[in-house]
Amino acid sequence: MIKSLRGMNDILEENEYKRFTYFLKVASSVAEKYGFHYIETPLLEETSLFKRSVGESSDIVGKEMYQFIDKGENDVCLRPEGTAGVVRAFIQKKLDRAGGTHRFFYYGPMFRYERPQKGRLREFHQFGVESFGLESVYEDATMIMMVADILNELGIGYRLQLNSLGDQNCMPQYRDNLVSFIESVEDKICEDCKRRKETNPIRVLDCKNEHCQALYENAPKLLNALCESCESDFNKLKKILDANNIAYEIDTNLVRGLDYYSKTAFEFVSDNIGSQSAIAGGGRYDRLVEFLDGRPTPAVGFAMGIERLMELIEMPNENRNGYYFGAMDDEAVNLIITTTQKKRKSDKATCEYRARNLKAHLKNADKANARYCCIIGSNELENGTIWVKDLEEKREETVKLEDF
Ligand code: HAM
Repeated sequence: MIKSLRGMNDILEENEYKRFTYFLKVASSVAEKYGFHYIETPLLEETSLFKRSVGESSDIVGKEMYQFIDKGENDVCLRPEGTAGVVRAFIQKKLDRAGGTHRFFYYGPMFRYERPQKGRLREFHQFGVESFGLESVYEDATMIMMVADILNELGIGYRLQLNSLGDQNCMPQYRDNLVSFIESVEDKICEDCKRRKETNPIRVLDCKNEHCQALYENAPKLLNALCESCESDFNKLKKILDANNIAYEIDTNLVRGLDYYSKTAFEFVSDNIGSQSAIAGGGRYDRLVEFLDGRPTPAVGFAMGIERLMELIEMPNENRNGYYFGAMDDEAVNLIITTTQKKRKSDKATCEYRARNLKAHLKNADKANARYCCIIGSNELENGTIWVKDLEEKREETVKLEDF
């Protein structure tokens, strides 16, 4: 038997597809309320797009890419995240030259060749948004408020972790100081951190090794090294969040796993889903458009991991609605189909052509969560009627088809 690949799941059970589609409905409608509109970009892109954005030093590009040479000898890669493709599309459509604000949302599968475990898949789905053209920190706050709105509407509790990664004025100096510090403890740190020191030193702060973490407690702190403008923006951000009753924790070691961030970085975590606890992450990436050969354009965004959220969503109670139509024998099938088709113009209506008996039809109607179970058998055919049971009020009657 052929099975799906390791770390790649089908979404087909009722408990899954309902949560998945409900999530998308809620998240899309919140994004639209904020004035964002839908964008679709290809799953497959040139590998260099991710190397130049997510960064060669990141685990995602260094270890986790679904990368291959296609039949035209192009080096291509299944997207490991959504931001790079949206930025590519933004530049390709020359929106960087048009100026103004451009706000997008998207959802779809992402691919990372990680070691699968609970909450960590090789194919997973993200809902993301990207906003271009605004350097104001109010847009960063807007992003965070949007995630909070989505989570609140889904009944999901969270902790918000916040940091600032500085910009090209303060980051280089901080990086030098950090490297000096790392060199002072280099004989005691793990091999990964030794490598990180060479490629992207701030990633050491994110090391999961407890021994390293203990050493880094004495490392210089990012937040103490911010220049005036980064510090002032970070303070403004905290004030807006306070004013909007969004609680946050400052985590000066939050560096994110992608290289394109500057200034604001944030992560929403849940304490109810185990070790893979990040449910959304994002931040500002003011340099990325120019790194990908566009005109310098400030930008900020986030993405949410749908599979992780599906475990946490509180589904609303669904009232029975619409109609279930069933035929009791083959002669009634034509009529049941045309009657269903008419009803579909105004209501939800499902149809089963045959069932073993009435009980089986009633069971189907219940499963479809229909309000009315409507049946045509030989008696009804003969009399031009239809038998209707209101499954909520538990009433049943036979009515003339023309009055139905
Ligand atoms: P990210 O933090 O890599 O950010 O991913 C965002 C979310 O995707 C995570 O918080 C997590 O919920 C989910 N996720 C990541 N990897 C997996 C996995 N292997 N299995 C299941 N879920 C996963 C980004 O991707 C950035 N593009 C976010 C962004 C948008 N920043 C600015 N704009």
